[in-house]
Amino acid sequence: MTRTLGFDEETSRRIEAMYRSPDAIRRRSLVLSLLEPRSGERVLDVGCGPGFLASELAAAVGPHGRVDAIDSSPVMLGLAKARCEALPWVAVREGDAARPGFDDAAFDAIASVQVHEYVRDVEGSLREAARVLRPGGRLLLVATDWDSIVWAADDAARMARVLSAFDEHLAHPDLPRRLEPLLRDAGFEPRRCEVLVQMNRVYDPNTFSAGLLELIRRFVPGRRGVDRDEADAWADDLRGRGARGAYFFSLNQYAFLAVKL
Ligand SMILES: C[S@@+](CC[C@H](N)C(=O)[O-])C[C@H]1O[C@@H](n2cnc3c(N)ncnc32)[C@H](O)[C@@H]1O
Repeated sequence: MTRTLGFDEETSRRIEAMYRSPDAIRRRSLVLSLLEPRSGERVLDVGCGPGFLASELAAAVGPHGRVDAIDSSPVMLGLAKARCEALPWVAVREGDAARPGFDDAAFDAIASVQVHEYVRDVEGSLREAARVLRPGGRLLLVATDWDSIVWAADDAARMARVLSAFDEHLAHPDLPRRLEPLLRDAGFEPRRCEVLVQMNRVYDPNTFSAGLLELIRRFVPGRRGVDRDEADAWADDLRGRGARGAYFFSLNQYAFLAVKL
């Protein structure tokens, strides 16, 4: 089976809930501090998801600026439109990262958070980002390296099997370590890279890892020999560790800032 994670109603709602957590709020504040959107700028949010970042970008650029937000999932677009309804300088519409369909040099800045891992043609998508940015425009990408995951489990072999099956949820589980040469080839100069560690030392439903746990439990059955019972036992193990004060999760996400030459 090779189908990656689909952003259907159930998954999109779960991701929307995860993005309300303090862990996700911290990530958005890192993105905004690196990208530095300014009043009056035109910014593109590629793969806007439920629209939290687009609405925060809109607050930064103000009504004299403009935010275009695109996503390939109709459900995510519905959530983003609702979230940005009161902000007429935000335009939310269907679009593919590899074919965003805007004019050359239309944007001052682009943000794309946890999207390019899902895009098969990353090279083409980065070339398109360079095309629609003005010279000197900024690109901010966030991507996860899934080999960086540390998750305490009673059954380490089962954890390895489940995480291996979850690697199928996206096209590029190791994108951060390959990204800088790809950025250069597409016409960017990488300027900064910051690591954001998602770390949870307790099991709490309002955290990144609790949301991820449920996404994984639903995704892995039928992949790489993992069945539903094994996925449920894996999830119970982690929640049980939480109940007895033995929970630990950590994962590295990387924020890259690059400038179009
Ligand atoms: C993990 S979510 C991140 C959402 C959002 N960027 C955020 O951080 O709040 C990934 C998003 O990328 C979108 N996506 C995946 N592949 C895409 C593509 N080729 N073009 C546009 N959007 C895409 C999905 O529909 C989903 O909304």
